[in-house]
Amino acid sequence: MAGLIPRQFIDDLLARTDIVELVDRHVPLKKAGKNYQACCPFHTEKSPSFTVSADKQFYHCFGCGAHGNAISFVMEYERLDFVDAIEELAAQLNLEVPREETKLTPAQQQQQQQALQQKQDDYQLMEKISHFYQQQLKSSSDKERVINYLKGRGLTGQIVKTFGIGYIGDSWDGMMKVFATNATITTQLVDLGMAIQGDKNRPYDRFRGRIMFPIRDKRGRVIGFGGRIIDEGTPKYLNSPETRIYHKGRELYGLYEAKQANKNLQRLVVVEGYMDVVALAQHGINYAVASLGTSTTEEQLQTLFRTVKEVICCYDGDRAGRDAAWRAMDNALPLIRDGYTLKFVFLPDGEDPDSLIRAQGQQAFEKLLTNAKPLSKFLFEHLLAQVDINSLEGKASLIEQFQPYLKKLPESTLKDAILTELANNFGTGNEQQLAKLNKLSKNTHKLPTIKIDTKITPVRMAIALLLEQPQLANEINSTLALAQLDTPGIPLLVELLELCKENPNINSAQILEHYRDSKKGRQLAKLLCWQHYVSKDTAKEVFLDSIEKLFADFIKKRTEVLLQKGRTGQITLAEKQELQTLLNNAN
Ligand code: UTP
Ligand code: MN
Repeated sequence: MAGLIPRQFIDDLLARTDIVELVDRHVPLKKAGKNYQACCPFHTEKSPSFTVSADKQFYHCFGCGAHGNAISFVMEYERLDFVDAIEELAAQLNLEVPREETKLTPAQQQQQQQALQQKQDDYQLMEKISHFYQQQLKSSSDKERVINYLKGRGLTGQIVKTFGIGYIGDSWDGMMKVFATNATITTQLVDLGMAIQGDKNRPYDRFRGRIMFPIRDKRGRVIGFGGRIIDEGTPKYLNSPETRIYHKGRELYGLYEAKQANKNLQRLVVVEGYMDVVALAQHGINYAVASLGTSTTEEQLQTLFRTVKEVICCYDGDRAGRDAAWRAMDNALPLIRDGYTLKFVFLPDGEDPDSLIRAQGQQAFEKLLTNAKPLSKFLFEHLLAQVDINSLEGKASLIEQFQPYLKKLPESTLKDAILTELANNFGTGNEQQLAKLNKLSKNTHKLPTIKIDTKITPVRMAIALLLEQPQLANEINSTLALAQLDTPGIPLLVELLELCKENPNINSAQILEHYRDSKKGRQLAKLLCWQHYVSKDTAKEVFLDSIEKLFADFIKKRTEVLLQKGRTGQITLAEKQELQTLLNNAN
């Protein structure tokens, strides 16, 4: 199992990546004072409020609140998780991402090793079974019937091969008798869903007398199967259950094949069935995927939008198809920022992509895709159908209808367009309602917003300056005295001072990285975004002044407490001496 990425490597990565260069490659930046600016890539705007600071190695949008270091930018912009973002940045620098030796007990290590080995064995076994099914297609005694069936469905040998389609004859142990050579493998076959363990009997083949569609993960490993009965019968399709290597909601049938067929995949079509994916590919549309029975999950949509910018969902025109489309849309909303589109195609009654492309051909199908219904249109049709737009009540309830969906949508041109269209529906003189809608529908979902409290306290000032110039920590010899103060924010300041002292070359981005996803991290990000107007040259002076002020404030407060105690006669001898010292020092 891969260990943790060493902190040192992450720090190096941040030290070697220039955030200005990095951002500029995706979002061309203009110099503005000591910073760089652009229109924010994370929300729509006409004048730039997205700022990148070379000094701080940090970006921040004053409009939507997006902010962070180089790693955060890659995560947000490329929609990657933390580890993938690190991989991406490392690849740009031609670096291998090292993994820490995990600090596990020998027993745990062995367990991990075994789990890893187990997975590799699982993939290998599934691959072998897939080969076996493909072989059976050519050599079983039913081969003529099966091949005729596939031919009858318009498939060529080439496409059958591309998708690794196979066959297994109708017997209880067609696969088991070849593969279940010992007890361990027998158990493994049950675990992988390939065999079913009856009550007392020996485990037997799950798939019997079926055309077999291997389900591959994005790396091309066979993780499960769908099996179709030949001609009529129930159930028409049988699918692998969830197993330790197969998680339905995460995978998309045909994605690996689509990626193999297209170096530069631009769009993906989501359909319902295995045969739809294969038939579309047969007719030149080799960029379709199926969401494996379940409705399209958020995880699947995330995968789709990580792969392409345009996703077209293709469903039946009936009630079930429309419901499936609506659920997919709801799951996709948070992912639709500028540059990304989701569209819908609803097929005529009784047709599916397979039957349609076979009857009408590639061009006709592509025309359907070109004319797909944009998300906004689908949203309007669906929601407007539920209100009487001619009545005042109807108009008012529109806001309630739209609000939950608009709220999920990131700030974008699409969202602006939807709001404008809504305004048109209200007619003129309804600015108030629109303003209300505008406010209610603000997306508060993904991007953490930063509200900057401009009240300047010495602690805030000291932290802000230290974040920008971590070397200021060397001006403080010892944090011991500082740590004694009970002013809010002191513990964080002391912690930072120590972090900076221990790591003399640390920069702002690295400091922030130490606090990723924590409350302290959010406080620090806030201060890093704060415009304090202290110039670089005077930073040291202001920093030391702030520290001094902290002590002065503390002494003043403490003196008052002790004087008060003295007045009420509650002061101890030790406190009397302390007061004396304080008063002497003050003079
Ligand atoms: P359909 O019933 O629309 O089948 O199911 P299809 O894809 O058009 O298949 P053909 O053309 O008759 O061969 C769509 C999808 O729903 C799942 C399968 O994933 C199938 O591809 N399904 C359907 C099942 O899992 N089990 C079933 O019994 C039926
Ligand atoms: Mn079909």
